[in-house]
Amino acid sequence: MSQAGIVNVMKETRVFPPPPEFSAKARIKSMEQYREMWQRAKDDPEGFWGEYAKELHWFKPYEKVLEWNEPFATWFKNGQTNVSYNCLDVHLNTWRRNKVAYIWEGEPGDVRVLTYEMLHREVCKFASVLKSLGIQKGDRVSIYMPMVPELPIAMLACARIGAIHSVVFGGFAAEALAERNNDAQAKLLITADGGWRRGKIVPLKENADRAMEKSPTIQKCIVLKRTGQEINMVDGRDLWWHELMKDASANCPAEPMDSEAPLFLLYTSGSTGKPKGVKHTTAGYNLYAKKTMEWVFDIRDEDVYWCTADIGWITGHTYIVYGPLSAGATIVMYEGAPDWPGYDRWWDIIERYKVNILYTAPTAIRTFIKWGDEHVEKHDLSSLRLLGSVGEGINPEAWMWYYEKIGGGRCPIVDTWWQTETGGIMISPLPGCTPLKPGSATFPLPGVVPEVVGEDGKPVPVGVGGWLVITQPWPGMLRGIWGDDERYKRQYWSDVPHKYLAGDNARIDEDGYIWIMGRIDDVLNVSGHRLSTIEVESALVSHPAVAEAAAVGRPHEIKGEAICAFVTLAEGYEPSDALRQELKNHVRQQIGALAVPDDIRFTTALPKTRSGKIMRRLLRDIAAGRETVGDTSTLEDYSVLARLRAGEE
Ligand code: WTA
Repeated sequence: MSQAGIVNVMKETRVFPPPPEFSAKARIKSMEQYREMWQRAKDDPEGFWGEYAKELHWFKPYEKVLEWNEPFATWFKNGQTNVSYNCLDVHLNTWRRNKVAYIWEGEPGDVRVLTYEMLHREVCKFASVLKSLGIQKGDRVSIYMPMVPELPIAMLACARIGAIHSVVFGGFAAEALAERNNDAQAKLLITADGGWRRGKIVPLKENADRAMEKSPTIQKCIVLKRTGQEINMVDGRDLWWHELMKDASANCPAEPMDSEAPLFLLYTSGSTGKPKGVKHTTAGYNLYAKKTMEWVFDIRDEDVYWCTADIGWITGHTYIVYGPLSAGATIVMYEGAPDWPGYDRWWDIIERYKVNILYTAPTAIRTFIKWGDEHVEKHDLSSLRLLGSVGEGINPEAWMWYYEKIGGGRCPIVDTWWQTETGGIMISPLPGCTPLKPGSATFPLPGVVPEVVGEDGKPVPVGVGGWLVITQPWPGMLRGIWGDDERYKRQYWSDVPHKYLAGDNARIDEDGYIWIMGRIDDVLNVSGHRLSTIEVESALVSHPAVAEAAAVGRPHEIKGEAICAFVTLAEGYEPSDALRQELKNHVRQQIGALAVPDDIRFTTALPKTRSGKIMRRLLRDIAAGRETVGDTSTLEDYSVLARLRAGEE
């Protein structure tokens, strides 16, 4: 947790009211209207969500809006719907049939435009392909693809036939992919030969081949041709996307799915080394994605909306695929890096497509600040009317730059707090009504009832930090961890009884604004990516030179947090720069580039308590170059601390 950020935030007193023209047109126009909705949703969640549920298509009506069997929720009990139907088919009998769904741009500059009609056709065809390969309701399908239209097509095709997708971010290495394939027991893997990133090919199929050697449940692999280099195709196992699609039937009606049928798994990091498969289901998730899209982005039919996340993360699932498609939006999707071929690629995209809404992450904003304003100033960004931020807290300096340089001082910024587990945005300004305070995620959305509590589970006083909990179920909430109900209960529902423990610290100020203050556990947030310290440590320890490893975060100007790993070496190994590099490469191969430590510090011992627990707090201070504050009385060997401080090699 970055203490520095908190100090800044405390001094923040600026308030930015919504522009009156924005409020006039917005769905939620005033704080009174918001408060009334919020209160209604709190007092009568079933009445509130039941009304909105009419916006989905139902094959069979549900019997009850919510059945709460803590901590397991059943939303829209015994109803039947289909997420792919709600994203596509519902638009086909309206004028939106020929509306653009995706404007896609590849990194090399190739462009594809898919209308709702065209997208529907591709999804139906690919769903037919899945069926012809024997994929059935409830089967798990791993998807490991670049940011190309076939990625949402594959997801929607799974949803259409009731298969459960598990998208694995293309930046993950073979080991990480295999681990996810195995945990989900996936039958099928969908990948591509490669994807473009900074002019180079990300060798997805090569990684997939290595992963499949260790993924016994995968029977077939569908390969999209994207980058065109020579790849290895295994006879009988690997099949080309374009060949399968040639004769596939475009007639594939959406399968009626139970409201609570799993829609997807998405693996994320917790406080242990093993990533958990967060499970989201059909009707509640779908409704929550749609409504939060409409409330927070106030999306309208004439908008061009761009979320820069990768679909491999929850932000991409909910706000590139399911939310905006359910809302009938026009979505920009971009394959590659922001600095290719120049530092102005994003601003160029915004100018060319006249993007109205931009949703991105603080780490990107800080990077642009570093690159310099001249790249922004080359472009006309006057089409923008709303900006969004997600993934970590946005420090007020970055907020102001985003507001002034990108938004031209006219666009509200929605700082959206949520998690893989929450399915959709939970705490966020509403752009037509909320007065903004830079650095605060402001207020909970209707249907979200948060509290900040102490370790005794009781609300803390105004202005005091504590654990952020959610006290009532909401439709987009996770329904569990794949194959591990116990872990679900332990992780989220045990430290504070009867409340969902988010894992973040927060405080609420005298005006009721919520300020998120960083994680309470050993989860790192590196460039908005969630990683557990233990995952990084396990990867390091799997190298023969490493005896013991402890990874901690330290504040980093651009990434938010950087990873600092303290390593003790096995007998016969000596510290060296070559070994440092080798260990970094090893982590890259085990998890992926996102987990590579920025610093590797060799040491002869790690600071431990008398019961043998690594004292991470001390390591965090050392990594950040801070004086150690707080209790060191449980430290077993004080000389370790002195040696670490001296920068022992
Ligand atoms: C952090 C991403 C402060 C937080 C959607 C959370 C944030 C974790 C914000 C979830 C924000 C996300 N302000 N912190 N606006 N948004 N976080 O699962 O620590 O990848 O618990 O979901 O990111 O990360 P995840």
